[in-house]
Amino acid sequence: MAPKSIISLFSLLPITAVLALNPSCAPGGNFDFTVWSLQLPTGSDGSVDTIKSKALQGCSGYTGPTFYTDKTNGELILTAPGNPDLTGCATTSGSEHCRTELREVNKSGQNTNWPPTGTNTNTVRLKVVKADDGTHGTAIGQVFAAEASKPLAEMYYSTKGDIVVGVKQDADSDQVVIKLGNVPVGTYFTYIMSYSNNVLSISINGNKTTLSTFDWDSPNCYFKTGNYNQGKTAVTSEVHIQSINVVHS
Ligand SMILES: *[C@@H]1O[C@H](CO)[C@@H](O)[C@H](O)[C@H]1NC(C)=O
Ligand SMILES: *[C@@H]1O[C@H](CO)[C@@H](O)[C@H](O)[C@H]1NC(C)=O
Repeated sequence: MAPKSIISLFSLLPITAVLALNPSCAPGGNFDFTVWSLQLPTGSDGSVDTIKSKALQGCSGYTGPTFYTDKTNGELILTAPGNPDLTGCATTSGSEHCRTELREVNKSGQNTNWPPTGTNTNTVRLKVVKADDGTHGTAIGQVFAAEASKPLAEMYYSTKGDIVVGVKQDADSDQVVIKLGNVPVGTYFTYIMSYSNNVLSISINGNKTTLSTFDWDSPNCYFKTGNYNQGKTAVTSEVHIQSINVVHS
């Protein structure tokens, strides 16, 4: 075994190593929820149950039937029920679908948004164990335009493992759908959603797609990440997350 191959093996480690997750903690013991609150598929339509950042934080933080730790490896499991007409789950106002989804907040725990200047990235390592049967599948990440209250970019994962993003041309238009890649169901991958220096892009396992923002004029945005079920049937979607890392600078 040549020393060179040992060195190159070690040089890969910082990229692939994942900090050990503690399977006996609530998700807040393993993930930094100082910058997230959580929307649940329960409560009432237009007023879903929301868990504030403070209540999510720490090893004894919030855990529930749709947001909990995988006891075998410490990963965060998020589930979301399908079609609310069939499942009776609760939707946010303006949505026909249910979610277990994180929403960015600031260090005071209040809803926040940022201008698309400087660096704004959300890097997530995950696997989708069960995608829903919506047109493009389960929404797993969003760049959400705050003032318009519409997703600028919404990324979906299908039952076939196809990953696409829908980008709106303006607040009122339908989404233009762009293919980003394919990752087989149940396989880990890393996505980076970025809206930095006014450029919107998404990377899937390092394959970066730069996206037009069409008629938008540099709207302030925030990230959402998790499991937003778009299904026609009652099938529950399931997402397992290994790491989440938001950067603003
Ligand atoms: C968080 O946002 C709220 C509402 O915009 C603001 O009043 C507060 O000062 C912000 N806190 C921090 C730490 O940025
Ligand atoms: C890389 O991204 C492009 C879109 O920018 C996509 O068409 C292509 O299939 C992707 N390649 C892989 C290997 O996923």
